[in-house]
Amino acid sequence: MPPISDVRQISHIAYGFIASKVLFATLNAKLFDLLADGPRPLPALADDTGIAEHRLDTLLTACVSLGLMERRDDGFINAPASQQYLVTASPRYFGDYLRFQIDRQVYPLLTDLDQALVGKAPASLYDLMADPKEAEHFTRAQHVGSLGPATVVQQLVDLSGATSLLDVAGGSGAFSITLCRRFPRLHATILDFPTVALLAEHFIAEANLSDRIRFIAGDALDTPWPDGHDAVLLSYLLTAVKGEAIPRLARLAYDALRPGGQLFLHDFVVNDDRQGPTGAALWFVAFLFNRDAVSFTPSDLTGVAETVGFRDVVTQDVIPGLTRLVIARKPA
Ligand SMILES: C[S@@+](CC[C@H](N)C(=O)[O-])C[C@H]1O[C@@H](n2cnc3c(N)ncnc32)[C@H](O)[C@@H]1O
Repeated sequence: MPPISDVRQISHIAYGFIASKVLFATLNAKLFDLLADGPRPLPALADDTGIAEHRLDTLLTACVSLGLMERRDDGFINAPASQQYLVTASPRYFGDYLRFQIDRQVYPLLTDLDQALVGKAPASLYDLMADPKEAEHFTRAQHVGSLGPATVVQQLVDLSGATSLLDVAGGSGAFSITLCRRFPRLHATILDFPTVALLAEHFIAEANLSDRIRFIAGDALDTPWPDGHDAVLLSYLLTAVKGEAIPRLARLAYDALRPGGQLFLHDFVVNDDRQGPTGAALWFVAFLFNRDAVSFTPSDLTGVAETVGFRDVVTQDVIPGLTRLVIARKPA
């Protein structure tokens, strides 16, 4: 991002949090769903949501100003992207990720950023995982949020000869499920906190993969990892742990692989020059709440992998501007 020169750019940043909340409240009131089949006038939307017309008009004016909707003579309609990504019935819907993880869990944490910066964050995102109800919200939301990147990752990796994947911090199983569907000989083991197990097993059963994906409940930092795998995946784990744990996780992954096996690290990264991208840079600020988490670049991850002995390290974009996949091989 070039250095800013206009006061309006400062305002845009300063008031961005109101725009986020407008989006979340509109999702929570199911307004994108109510417009899924075409234009609806304000009084009908007020009836359906139980929100007084004058308040709803204020919210919808904000939505229109942000480009989320259009105001026409016959009522409000969804913008094309809202229709595709924010309507529950759409195959590309990811509104539940925004509602249950970003609005409910990440947004409130950020109000304590000043304290997090001096190492006194009152709560961590992953403290929530100790509470079964919050773990369920987080994991259900993450499933919706991870199916898109998992679909990209399955096109970037070659597991055609592989039979066993260890998916550390695999959460709902979004990646294991997607990869097992793509590679019919593959079996996966997910290692994640006990509070995640029930929901993961639900998603795995729903995908008819209970005979190919198993779940080990435990903290990846103090639970033995089963070994002999063709591939080990760490998706969004490096941003969930203290920076000092990252080299240890790379070593554990190395030891869990058979010779010739592949490591996949999928996570947020900032560019090597640390100039952006903005999306990833901002996410690393949210990860400051995962006590002593650090921000890293593709070169940092390549260095960590090579230090423990991995070779042939390559990186690829997964969610452009946000996440990348690092692929490395344990020497045969
Ligand atoms: C953002 S979610 C990603 C889940 C999954 N890897 C994916 O990409 O969809 C992060 C996951 O890391 C898990 N996690 C965080 N710290 C962990 C730890 N120390 N041991 C095991 N799992 C952990 C959380 O429970 C959560 O399921």
